[in-house]
Amino acid sequence: MKNLIRALQFVWPYRGRLALSILCALIVALLWGANFMAISPILNLLGKEQNLQTQIDLEIQAKEEQIAEIAKGLDDREKIEIPKVMTWPDEKARDNRLLELTRLTAKDEAAIGYARSQLYWLQTGRMLIQRFAPTDRFETLAWLLAIVVISIALKGFFDFWQESLVGSAVSLSLFDLRNRFYRSAIHYDMSQFTEEGTHELMARFTNDMDALSAGCKTLFGKVVAEPLKALSCIAFACMISWRLTLLFLVVVPIALFFMSKVGRYMKKASRRVLESMSSLYKILQETFQGIRIVKAFTMERYERRRFFLGTKDYYRKGMWVINLEAISGPVMELLGVTAIAGALLVGAYLVMTGETHIWGFRMTIDPLTPAALLNLYALLAAIADPVRKLSNVYTKIQSGAAGADRIFHAMDKKPKVRNNPQAPRLPRHRESVEFREVCFSYSAGQPILTNVSFRVRFGETIALVGRNGSGKTTLVGLLARFFDPDHGAVLVDGHDIRRMNLRSLRQQLGLVSQDTMLFDDTIYNNIAYGKRHAKPEEVEAAAKQALAHDFILKQRNGYETRIGEMGGALSGGQRQRIALARAILRDPSLLILDEATSAADVEVEASIHQTLRQFMKNRTTFLITHRLNMLEIADRIVVLENGRIEAIGTHLELLKCCSTYQRLHEVNLQRQAA
Ligand SMILES: Nc1ncnc2c1ncn2[C@@H]1O[C@H](COP(=O)(O)OP(=O)(O)OP(=O)(O)O)[C@@H](O)[C@H]1O
Ligand SMILES: [Mg+2]
Repeated sequence: MKNLIRALQFVWPYRGRLALSILCALIVALLWGANFMAISPILNLLGKEQNLQTQIDLEIQAKEEQIAEIAKGLDDREKIEIPKVMTWPDEKARDNRLLELTRLTAKDEAAIGYARSQLYWLQTGRMLIQRFAPTDRFETLAWLLAIVVISIALKGFFDFWQESLVGSAVSLSLFDLRNRFYRSAIHYDMSQFTEEGTHELMARFTNDMDALSAGCKTLFGKVVAEPLKALSCIAFACMISWRLTLLFLVVVPIALFFMSKVGRYMKKASRRVLESMSSLYKILQETFQGIRIVKAFTMERYERRRFFLGTKDYYRKGMWVINLEAISGPVMELLGVTAIAGALLVGAYLVMTGETHIWGFRMTIDPLTPAALLNLYALLAAIADPVRKLSNVYTKIQSGAAGADRIFHAMDKKPKVRNNPQAPRLPRHRESVEFREVCFSYSAGQPILTNVSFRVRFGETIALVGRNGSGKTTLVGLLARFFDPDHGAVLVDGHDIRRMNLRSLRQQLGLVSQDTMLFDDTIYNNIAYGKRHAKPEEVEAAAKQALAHDFILKQRNGYETRIGEMGGALSGGQRQRIALARAILRDPSLLILDEATSAADVEVEASIHQTLRQFMKNRTTFLITHRLNMLEIADRIVVLENGRIEAIGTHLELLKCCSTYQRLHEVNLQRQAA
């Protein structure tokens, strides 16, 4: 619930719309109840052959008689009974009786007051009826029905506005929430993405948001409008007989108890459904993204089965929600009908016997007429519609609350690496990069990097070599502050990068990652990704430096060719060269090339080296590679082994003293010879 309330805070800015919607709901409710009040006059028109004028005259007459009767009772008491009691000899009995009589007088006076106010309304009604209503019975009936139709039309108009206003307020607030959530999600740490999984986030942005939206719409729509409708019916029913109406209302606490029970189950059930949906997202995402592998390894049948089991699980959990929703309607209906039947039974007894009391309890002031009883019945039955609509309200809100829980749980995750806009900006790097006693682990107890220390001068090109999993990508990730070290520090120009403005660090960075990531956009936009306002000449120059220009021109639309999802329409080597151009265009002071040319052919690689040599002059470059011939452009080489630095030096130095390097070199030579 706490999270649902937090979600509601996003609706607050749109409270104006909500207030208007409540006003609309009030009008709708009033029209809804008032319509049913037409029943009694219509029945009288048909049954008793009285036109409206006689109906109201009779009612006024009856009211006046009632007032006269009570007044007479009062008068008698005052003039006859009290003086008689005053003569009683027993003082105690006399006082008691007098007290009782005073009480009766007060009661009668109240009754007269109430009857007089009713009389006033009746007289006003008579005035209107005499002025406007026709005297012919059929004409009057047509007139009444026309009023009913018009008020239904009016009700429809306000119904529309109520729903539309609530819808827009909720949609706007979800629009804000989505954007806020996206803002916090995009600042997640890399590790949070791996932990959470993108499918989980996707599910939260779509499925859970939908549940929340439905919950909020219900909360501001039905929860406001339907009880108002019911209340309006109850108010009008009270005008006919509030005691009988009260009798009907005894079921309300039972209904509330039942709804809260179902609601509690519902929240659990909805949470399970939402979780199940996000695991379906996971299967979809994995299989469609990895469709090549699925096909090549003929895993279609396996994936089909996995998806089948996932959907079956979703179906099973979904059925709980469906059944819980389905059961509330009939139960509420049964409760309602039982209550109506009870009230009707009592009312019918009163009508048949012409009494006003049952077992000594006064049920009505005047004896009920059949038309009034039918009118009462219609009003109570009319409550059934709002109640039926309300029956699944609690469940909807609970399912929205489950969605809100999942959304805010994800939104509340605070990234460890956080931007600090107040921190000083890192000036453009021009001195050194230093790793100082850096230790790092993704999960506690499993160190990935241990005590890594080395210093790089500005303009130097450092190659990182080592076996798979030795920690090369992780090490350069620390420089980009994808993670922060557990111990030690990374310093750029002597500044600990944790204390500097994060954006100012990353703006100096050019990264070509190990797995090339391109966007489903044009080649031009992919290259200009890190520098949206680059001039076309600059983009072209960067493409030339990455040896991408020629093949780009051969594409169907040149630079404007779309490259499909993840760059699917390009070869692996072409993708890498576009990624390289993207990094070059940014004019970074720190360039990180993580196997940036691993997919390029030998000839292209050699040419890229030529152009890179020029480019690397005014920046510090970290070069990760498994191809040792790439190392000719490196000034120094760092050999990593199991997260430790085994040796640092030039190619020749390392050949002399580092056994790991010697082995790597030999293997490389053999491969080249083969
Ligand atoms: N996000 C992660 N969460 C947990 N462990 C990770 C994560 N990324 C990498 N590792 C682990 O950290 C170790 C170092 O990984 P890293 O990617 O730095 O190796 P690498 O030297 O770049 O290897 P390669 O030559 O294959 O690219 C590996 O053992 C890997 O299992
Ligand atoms: Mg790597």
